[in-house]
Amino acid sequence: MNKAKRQAVIAGNWKMNKTRPEAKALIEELKPLVKDAGCGVVICVPYTNLEAALEATKGSNIKVGAENCHWAKSGAFTGEISADMLAEMGVEYVVIGHSERRQYFGETDQTVNQRVRAALDAGLKVILCVGELLEQREQGITEEICGMQTKVALGGVSKEELSRIIIAYEPVWAIGTGKTATADQADEVNGFIRSVVAKLYGDDAAQALTVQYGGSMNAKNAEELLGKEHVDGGLIGGASLKAEDFSVIVKAASK
Ligand code: 13P
Repeated sequence: MNKAKRQAVIAGNWKMNKTRPEAKALIEELKPLVKDAGCGVVICVPYTNLEAALEATKGSNIKVGAENCHWAKSGAFTGEISADMLAEMGVEYVVIGHSERRQYFGETDQTVNQRVRAALDAGLKVILCVGELLEQREQGITEEICGMQTKVALGGVSKEELSRIIIAYEPVWAIGTGKTATADQADEVNGFIRSVVAKLYGDDAAQALTVQYGGSMNAKNAEELLGKEHVDGGLIGGASLKAEDFSVIVKAASK
């Protein structure tokens, strides 16, 4: 079993939720609940909450991430935030290529790749999201889609840099729908993504890679999903907004 050698990481993706006072309150509630975690714990929060989150998590085992970053170092990109800006603040992680960015904000595999490279150049760790739409699953092209998204996103990324990447498999049909992939479905695609990475970087690098599952993971189904060989953690939306639920998922990953 290689799973035991990999670091399990449970990351919350708060999406567009929580004002600063709400963010501080949630983190204060979360800290004691996850302090003995046997896995990595990350919260990815809106830009406006980053400073408060960094302050509130100081001295704790909770790491802070952003939910996106731009690919350019600086320049005329009104409304955007660069990877350097995040790194300078002390932010450690950034989510790239989330399906909501692909769906609502014109994100493409190519811009995902540019953002991944900018984040790595700035010294950040990346949570790279890939996943198929419902109709793509029904057409039987889940592997083609996830394989392509993974390969394009990793273009130009060195083997050394790969160690700062987590891949999150998030089937789009399972996000925010309450419709979770079965543990076997998650394991199958996560394992496939690992095989794609093995072809690009070799077996050792692929076996060391943390591959999360995301999509309606919650306090009830986390244990079964996280028990699978290729499911090394989770990227949690809705359930990350409730300290108690998030901490149950963290505990399930700590076993
Ligand atoms: P839900 O857990 O709310 O389905 O969201 C998953 C997700 O998109 C995490 O990035």
